[in-house]
Amino acid sequence: MSYVEESTVIDETIYDLINQAFENERKYKDAKYRNSIFTDFNEYFVKTDDGSYSIKSKEINHKVETLHTSTGAISESFEKFIKPLKLDYDEDIAILDICAGLGYNSSAAIDDFLKSSDRNLHIDMLEISKPTLAAGLMVPSPIESHDITKKAIEQALIDCGYASLELEETPIPENIDLKIHIDDARKVIQKLPDNTYDAIFLDPFSQNMSPELVSLEFFRQFRRVIKDNGIVATYTSSAPVRMAFIEADFYVSMGPIFGRFQGGTLASPNPENLTKSLPKNDEIKMALSDVGIPFRDPNLDLSSKEILDNRTEERHIARHNTKISSAVKTPIFLGQEMDDEPLKRRVERNLAKMNIPGVLSDEALYIVEVENDYMEEYFEDNNTRTRVLEMMKRLDEIKDKRNMPIKENGE
Ligand SMILES: C[S@@+](CC[C@H](N)C(=O)[O-])C[C@H]1O[C@@H](n2cnc3c(N)ncnc32)[C@H](O)[C@@H]1O
Repeated sequence: MSYVEESTVIDETIYDLINQAFENERKYKDAKYRNSIFTDFNEYFVKTDDGSYSIKSKEINHKVETLHTSTGAISESFEKFIKPLKLDYDEDIAILDICAGLGYNSSAAIDDFLKSSDRNLHIDMLEISKPTLAAGLMVPSPIESHDITKKAIEQALIDCGYASLELEETPIPENIDLKIHIDDARKVIQKLPDNTYDAIFLDPFSQNMSPELVSLEFFRQFRRVIKDNGIVATYTSSAPVRMAFIEADFYVSMGPIFGRFQGGTLASPNPENLTKSLPKNDEIKMALSDVGIPFRDPNLDLSSKEILDNRTEERHIARHNTKISSAVKTPIFLGQEMDDEPLKRRVERNLAKMNIPGVLSDEALYIVEVENDYMEEYFEDNNTRTRVLEMMKRLDEIKDKRNMPIKENGE
């Protein structure tokens, strides 16, 4: 089975029901099939705290997720994806909405744009699953602009032969162009032009379900298609995802906190777009230990399982060879006094394998010296990216016992 065929993505019962409803719509040219799903099978639609609806995913890797946070599906779109952008509404805007789902993120972008601009808005919406887009037609619109998105979704589903009736009545304003690509986002992005987007929304399921949508190589495509002043917004705070952005030539910072304990992530080729560094210990762990090893998908065509298995294998090989072991959070103790003797022994055993003789050794202090200048504020030459890259470089020097500078005062 191909990757696209495997991607049932939403709960299998509702997936089948929606497919059946549209098969009937095509056959009998009757609106009742599409219109009855939401009321007849309401239990499959999950009402989130702000009143907007979400759907459950199918079980992937023994986990079921909803498409949105329970705190509020449409609120999440505004808080995580729209508010952190610094769009210049005096110019035309181009947005890439990856994992468009029910279309909430694009709808929130349209809402904000219509309030602030009379220029042009272009959005490329990438979504692999037709029934998921179709579910976007069935949920009550949480904001008016979702009716505009619905019109574009309906048209795309008619164009590909999935839907057959034009039931959506809200016209798409002339200055808004919504293009929906129904395919694997990894394939679509390779065909998009360079240096085009002011913003990219990245809204996949979690990294254990969809590692292919947070790989280093996928983000290299982001770097190619985003403008030098653009911003990527995503809800995840995961170390390998943030490292992949850094390795793909982005600056990364904390995103807004909403519905989860940790803030999401913002990434931009331009550090001036970012304001808040990642927490200090997160920088240390991702730079120095195997948790920072990104997901890899060299030709943008591996299965989720292959990507997960390859990373597990790569972490295993890297531990004690090229990276400090992440066990017991070893790297965060570099340069720290430790009272807990058993823990200290474990930490120092891990460090010794990387040629670092102790938590307070010259080598340890040299590597994390970089963090003495840590500031939460984002500066062009002192920020999460510059510090992470410098710590990585210093760890490489120490492990190879190369170029270790001798301090002048003989310390
Ligand atoms: C968390 S949901 C996104 C919710 C969405 N942003 C919204 O506003 O409703 C993740 C979405 O990613 C889609 N998806 C999964 N794999 C994909 C792929 N390879 N390419 C494009 N979309 C994919 C799923 O079908 C699902 O709709």
